[in-house]
This record gives sequence, C-alpha cells and structure tokens, in this order.
Amino acid sequence: MSTTFTIDTATSRANPMPAPMKRLTVPAIQRRKFDGKTEQPLVMLTAYTVRMAQLLDPHCDMLLVGDSLGQVIYGLPSTLAVTLDMMCAHGAAVVRGSYHSVVIVDMPFGSYESSPEAAFASASRVMADTGCAAIKLEGGQAMAPTIRFLSERGIPVMAHIGLTPQAVNVLGGYGARGRSQQEHEKIMADAKAVADAGAFAMVLEGVVEPIGAAVTQSVDVPVIGIGASAQCDGQVLVAEDMLGLFERTPRFVKRFGDIAGRISAAVETYANDVRSRAFPGPEQTYAPKD
Ligand code: KIV
Repeated sequence: MSTTFTIDTATSRANPMPAPMKRLTVPAIQRRKFDGKTEQPLVMLTAYTVRMAQLLDPHCDMLLVGDSLGQVIYGLPSTLAVTLDMMCAHGAAVVRGSYHSVVIVDMPFGSYESSPEAAFASASRVMADTGCAAIKLEGGQAMAPTIRFLSERGIPVMAHIGLTPQAVNVLGGYGARGRSQQEHEKIMADAKAVADAGAFAMVLEGVVEPIGAAVTQSVDVPVIGIGASAQCDGQVLVAEDMLGLFERTPRFVKRFGDIAGRISAAVETYANDVRSRAFPGPEQTYAPKD
C-alpha cells in the first residue's frame, strides 16, 4: 500500500486518500482472542501526529495516543504534567491521519482517578473531541469500578497494568515489576480485576517474562505487552523508540530503524548546501515571467 501522501492543510486529510478501508472496531480487536488464544498477534504503536498516524496506520491494528507524548513530544521529565488538552489535540490529529486502526487515547494523570464520574467526564470529552474509539487508563484493582462504570456507559476501556508510569513516584522508578511473589500475585489479581470489570484489552508493561505469559493465559481479553513477553496477544512500542529516534531506549525496545541517523545526515547536507549556496538551485526558485 502506498504511504506517499500530501496533507490538505484545510482539512488535515491525506491527499490522495488512502484506499478506503473499513476501520477496525473494538469488538473486532476483542474477537482476535478466541478460546484463550490469539492466532495472529495484535500490532499496536504509539502515534501523536497526523503524519506519523498516516505512516503507521496501514501496518497496525491499533494506534495508541500515549501520554508518553509528554516526554517524546514535549520533553517533560515524566507523564505527570500531561493535560487533557494535549491528549485531545494529539488524539484528534491521529484520528484524522488514520483510516484502518482502532485509535485509543490515554487518559492523563489526574483526569480519572478521583471517581468514576470524574473519569466519565474526562473520557467522554476525549472521545467527543478526538473521535477515538476507546481510552486507556492506568491501574488494576483500584480502577476496576471505574472501568466498569465507563464500559457500561459506552466508553471502551483498555486497561494498563504492571509498570504504570503515572505511578512512578509510588513505584520508585521504571524498573520491571513482578520480581517478588507479592508483586507477582498483585499483577495477576490486577489483570483479573480489570478483565472482570469489562476492559476490552489491557496493556501489560515492564514485567518479568513468566508473568507476561501467565497473565495472557489467565484472561479472555487481549493482553498487549511492552517489556512483557512474546506470548502476549500483541505488542506495543513507542514508535519513536523502535524507529531509532533516541540514543537511549529501554532494554525491551528493539530498534527497527535509524531515523535519528537519517535526519542528522539529511540536515547536515542541507546545512552544507545552504552555506555553499548550492540550495536553493534553479529547480527551487521562481523564474520571472517572460
Ligand atoms: O503512553 C504510552 O505510550 C503507553 C505505552 C508505552 C503503552 O502507555
């Protein structure tokens, strides 16, 4: 499928339009796990902008507008200062840039934890402002009543358990979870609680590998791993990490490209061409009318 588009600046739509594909739905994602098994693992990547959405969309089942955009786009030290306004703006851009994937938008820290009603107010705004199909929120047993409240009121919820970055100050860092028996049992209980509460899927982040496999076997809904296990029902990564935009990435990231190297080389050539007056050349300048 061609991924060469220009963007119509009036509508932010791709031009030409990619071949129309029926967008996947939340129930279709859920049905990919059948009888406790997912034949073909689900593919999810983060996207924060229209152009990245256009490039990733044809290859993915789900695009996650993650609150990791706080670090990746805004250079913040953690996800804690990310706002609903940021999530709505980036979520809308990703929906505009995609035609195929289910778009899921992260609920930012502070927008959903205080009560199911507060979560509904924030999540319904995200859904209305962005056109996304689902939201994601962090937390296990403590968030189960909220997940039930939202799901029963028309808001599909992807849960996020294991290493939950919004709880970094409670966890004391971003290290893998589940090394003690107590943590192992808590993660298993969290998975069961969010699945029972109606989450259509869950992200399982940063856990020792056997827990990844055990959680995946223990629940009926798809488990999307990140730093978890190849046995999960799908995988997610931050797109900029797997594309090689950063020098340092967590252990669980595999680099599938070297975007930083390619940008650097292109910009070095541009700078040399500007300094030597090789750019702009005759092809990039306007001739006067005869
Ligand atoms: O915010 C994010 O990008 C995420 C993924 C890492 C799962 O939650």
